[in-house]
Amino acid sequence: MLSDVMDLLACPHCTSDLEAIEDGRVLRCDRAHTFDVARQGYVSLLAGNAGKIVGDSAEMIEARSKFLDSGHFDRIIAAVAAAMSVHDPATVLEVGAGTGHYLAAVLETSERMRGVGLDVSKPAARTVARAHPRLGSVVADVWQPLPVRTGAIDAVSCVFSPRNAAELRRILAPDGILVVVTPTAHHQQELIETLGLLSVDEDKARRLEESLAGRYEQTDTTRIEFTMALDHASIGSLVGMGPSVRHSTDASRRTAIAALPDTVEVTASVTVGTYRALAASAAL
Ligand SMILES: C[S@@+](CC[C@H](N)C(=O)[O-])C[C@H]1O[C@@H](n2cnc3c(N)ncnc32)[C@H](O)[C@@H]1O
Ligand SMILES: [Zn+2]
Repeated sequence: MLSDVMDLLACPHCTSDLEAIEDGRVLRCDRAHTFDVARQGYVSLLAGNAGKIVGDSAEMIEARSKFLDSGHFDRIIAAVAAAMSVHDPATVLEVGAGTGHYLAAVLETSERMRGVGLDVSKPAARTVARAHPRLGSVVADVWQPLPVRTGAIDAVSCVFSPRNAAELRRILAPDGILVVVTPTAHHQQELIETLGLLSVDEDKARRLEESLAGRYEQTDTTRIEFTMALDHASIGSLVGMGPSVRHSTDASRRTAIAALPDTVEVTASVTVGTYRALAASAAL
């Protein structure tokens, strides 16, 4: 719940501390900026509106929930939970938390851990709010200053989501860690070929290194690759939760999936990288 993580959050307008008032229905900062807590338990701490940034839609979040519930990505979820928990963090945060599946698995590794799930999408924030009792769900845009106190977070995860390396380092405690999951060029390659999905940018790994250089040092990297036997329903969810869904119609996707064999072997291939935040003086 938000009340578990109030001491980690900051006002997006003036960066001062927030407190819950009116029985937890409103958050207020020292300078009297106020933010309504939604009925579903999340709070929007956007400084203005998110402008052109569009997070995942309700349909995409529903597809993602179905796919992650099916267990096909459990090895990736377990790898993220393991990478985060090695450092025994007391406070964790996920940027672009989506459904909260990854954050919930991280929180399950220790009863003393508390977490913040950030996402710019309200449907995502609603789902994250229900994902685990020891987390607070916040609507925020990673490309704006994050509504989180400087140095408050011991470990941040970023799974298939956009990341703002400078802001994440600001909110990390000294020696805090960042765990980043990125797809390799083999990820879902069979569906990229047969369904014409967007392919993984070949330059992704290089751009990740460039964005982290000078602010973080890599302490670990693991490649996870396995094959999933997916039926049409699972393929529908996998396609429906990804960016390609914005470039096709429901009908054209259904027709293309119906033409596939009943079961398709699909590769999952990701890199899980762990990075330690460097002291500010060493940063760019
Ligand atoms: C590919 S999904 C990954 C979700 C989750 N980490 C997972 O792997 O299941 C990317 C997520 O990032 C969110 N997102 C996109 N742009 C964002 C932004 N500028 N700020 C915060 N979240 C953003 C989307 O709404 C979506 O939930
Ligand atoms: Zn304020």
